[in-house]
Amino acid sequence: MIEDITLVTGGTGLVGRAVQEVIEAAPPQGQKWVFVGSKDADLTNYESTKALFERVRPTQVLHLAAFVGGLFANMEYKVQFWRKNILMQDNIMVLCHEHGVKKLVSCLSTCVFPDKTTYPIDETMIHNGPPHPSNEGYAYAKRLVDVQNRMYNSQYGCNYTSVIPTNIFGKHDNFNLKDSHVIPGLIHKCYLAQKAGEPFTIMGTGKPLRQFIYSLDLAKLMVWALREYNEPDPIILSVGPEDEVAIGDVARSIARAMDFQGEVRFDATKADGQFKKTASNAKLRRYLPGFKFTDIDDAIGETVAWFKANYASART
Ligand SMILES: NC(=O)c1ccc[n+]([C@@H]2O[C@H](COP(=O)([O-])OP(=O)(O)OC[C@H]3O[C@@H](n4cnc5c(N)ncnc54)[C@H](OP(=O)(O)O)[C@@H]3O)[C@@H](O)[C@H]2O)c1
Repeated sequence: MIEDITLVTGGTGLVGRAVQEVIEAAPPQGQKWVFVGSKDADLTNYESTKALFERVRPTQVLHLAAFVGGLFANMEYKVQFWRKNILMQDNIMVLCHEHGVKKLVSCLSTCVFPDKTTYPIDETMIHNGPPHPSNEGYAYAKRLVDVQNRMYNSQYGCNYTSVIPTNIFGKHDNFNLKDSHVIPGLIHKCYLAQKAGEPFTIMGTGKPLRQFIYSLDLAKLMVWALREYNEPDPIILSVGPEDEVAIGDVARSIARAMDFQGEVRFDATKADGQFKKTASNAKLRRYLPGFKFTDIDDAIGETVAWFKANYASART
């Protein structure tokens, strides 16, 4: 007998595909999981979202869909980043409420945190000051997920919450050279440098530090949050500050995984970006002290192997 129907929005994306892989590896008894992308419903549209809820009849929702993009897109289309994300999350919350959904987990991002802050950042600091102006449309929209969760909890007793992942990477990522995140961008660059017999050039000094999380680790933590995490307040899903890695080390790991024999070069004339944005995972560790993250070199190895095998169909 099916006891729970879990709807995963953003099911065609980096995180959604990872959740699907985790669920398919050990299908839970008495549960049906439905993964949807933008072809199944336009979540910015209430009627389309309503029709999806009527088709699927979810008892739980993992809301991963978002209008996301790189730095330049965020700077140029602030209104669209604000509006599309606000509409999606509002439609999801209204319909979860109308359908009596038992649990809703939505996804924030570390770029919602104030631009000027102290480190390590933690879950209590989200609303302490304005986000960086470059992505304020996206950041303010996502911050309101947290506000909406608390309001639905206070007025209706809803079990809605949010998670905050740090930099995610893995199979099915966006590897486009213009608007991808660090790791998929470097993987694609290294692949092209190897093909052309040219140096693998990394923008900046390679010294900035970041906390990367493998999409499959994040997927396991998201499934845990859906089942076990019952605070309306958000929780950061990340490796700890002790596992921050330098971009340069990541680039060298990618070159090894690619078996790239050429020169790895750093172009220090290019901007480095923020030196670090350390996030605390102390709250996660209080809940799951024993959770084991995949070694970053192994995770990069799996991602590079996937990218090479799926180059023709990957998002490039
Ligand atoms: N990637 C990161 O490093 C990172 C870091 C922190 C937080 N996050 C958050 O994590 C979540 C998942 O991100 P991701 O990296 O997996 O994103 P992604 O790979 O870019 O996937 C985005 C997903 O959203 C769906 N989508 C976009 N617009 C839609 C619409 N109007 N209606 C319905 N579906 C729509 C897309 O559907 P189609 O592909 O079918 O069009 C796709 O499944 C997002 O909430 C994001 O903000 C990501």
